[in-house]
Amino acid sequence: MQFFVDTANLDDIKSLQSMGLIDGVTTNPSLVLKSGKPFLKLIEDICAVVPGPVSAEVTAADTSGMLAEGRKLAGIAPNVIVKVPLTPAGLSACRQLKEENILCNVTLCFTPMQAVLAAKAGAAYISPFVGRLDDIGQDGTELLRDIRDIYDQYPDFETQILAASLRHPAHVLAAAKIGVDVATCPPDIMRKLFDHPLTEKGLAAFQADWEKTGQSI
Ligand code: E4P
Repeated sequence: MQFFVDTANLDDIKSLQSMGLIDGVTTNPSLVLKSGKPFLKLIEDICAVVPGPVSAEVTAADTSGMLAEGRKLAGIAPNVIVKVPLTPAGLSACRQLKEENILCNVTLCFTPMQAVLAAKAGAAYISPFVGRLDDIGQDGTELLRDIRDIYDQYPDFETQILAASLRHPAHVLAAAKIGVDVATCPPDIMRKLFDHPLTEKGLAAFQADWEKTGQSI
């Protein structure tokens, strides 16, 4: 299972990268807005820090606009993955970009059959949004399970499942148990994966006892 970090905050990316925790990065226009940085430079900076896949999203609504933006984004660095929306225009762009050896992450997936369409369009990644389904009273993790089950029946599908919109560690656990290929987590969720009160309590006790030994290593 790979971990991507879902952020456009370079400091967070550098910090998690230095811990060896992240295999890639996902961004979206809302995260870019939050960063306050110019988009193209930001993607260049992220790619300089993270050698793994870095998703950068197109903003055009039509295929030709997406193709132009996708080619520009892919030209920033070899590890850029062009993110396109799960629309007819987006899947058409995905198919054409694949023919140019530009990999796509198809985003905003909310049904298993949308994921099948993305696989048939040659997506490198499909991004099912777990938390946003939970937000409307549906079980987002069920979507991951359905996509995993379907993809496993068709070995010719090369698309990797990139669990997105993960809002808490339980989402990440569910994604891991289902066997997604990648979980993209906001930095705070990534850090919460470390936490357990018994880890902190146990460490404090060991340190206190070690001091009483009067020894050093
Ligand atoms: C993933 O690629 C998306 O950028 C992200 O996971 C969306 O998460 P949200 O629903 O919490 O905004």
